[in-house]
Amino acid sequence: MQEQKILVWDAPTRVFHWLLVASFAGAFLTAESERYRDIHVLCGYTALALLAFRLLWGFVGSRYARFASFRYGPARVGAYLRSLLSGRPEHHVGHNPAGSWAIYALILLGLLTASSGYAVFGDWGGEWLEEVHEAFANTMLAVVAVHVTGVVVGSLLHRENLARAMVTGYKSGAPEQAIRRPAWWAAALLLAAAVAFWTGAIPAPGLDGAAVRLERTASHGQHAQKWDTD
Ligand code: HEM
Ligand code: HEM
Repeated sequence: MQEQKILVWDAPTRVFHWLLVASFAGAFLTAESERYRDIHVLCGYTALALLAFRLLWGFVGSRYARFASFRYGPARVGAYLRSLLSGRPEHHVGHNPAGSWAIYALILLGLLTASSGYAVFGDWGGEWLEEVHEAFANTMLAVVAVHVTGVVVGSLLHRENLARAMVTGYKSGAPEQAIRRPAWWAAALLLAAAVAFWTGAIPAPGLDGAAVRLERTASHGQHAQKWDTD
């Protein structure tokens, strides 16, 4: 089989991935402070919307973005892990079996974290709900650590920079395995929606205009309260 650089990850999958990384990191870094609560909530909503998009894209997206292309049972995961230990790792053009489990866990935990955050924000429960939200977030952080370790180990064993592939979309494979179109239109729509949300053109439930929010965060003081009521 003639191996060359072929397009594997379409543009919306890549944009989704890096926006999810940014919003998850943003939500985590702002989680503990009252002052940054609005930013925390904005990051959390962004993650939730991104994951909703990914669920849809998993059915209508290109070949390797479709869930059907990375549905592996425990036997396949075991065989893949054994192949890593044997020093002759199975090569997968799309997601490998072990990686696919981490991805499903991240999507599920992201949905649970963000929706429990929404419930905390809306005061639907007491302190127990805050604990649940925090526990989901911390479990997700642990899976992110496993995921990133898997990416590093996989990159070393396959001698292929997988993180760079998630940026450029290109991996090695046979020409007939390539996807045909990067679907830039869907990536552009996703980015436009994110910009509209962060500039306040799409309102966030429970928060007032984005400009006011950001000013309030920047000045975090008495007169910010005054702007609030303007
Ligand atoms: C908050 C942190 C992160 C989250 C929530 C996350 C989540 C995900 C998800 C959901 C996918 C599946 C992509 C798809 O098919 O839509 C994925 C794949 C991937 N991620 Fe991440 N990720 C994170 C951090 C990172 C980092 C820091 C790197 C780079 C070092 C990375 C590299 C990759 C790569 C290379 C893939 C493709 C895996 C493969 O080759 O099968 N991720 N990630
Ligand atoms: C991926 C997304 C999210 C992550 C990683 C995350 C993470 C966290 C963490 C770790 C805490 C605990 C902070 C502490 O130590 O007290 C927290 C608190 C909180 N989060 Fe989130 N969160 C996310 C999404 C959301 C969303 C979507 C909302 C609202 C719509 C939200 C609302 C809140 C609120 C109101 C608190 C404060 C709870 C309290 O008073 O203790 N979060 N979040």
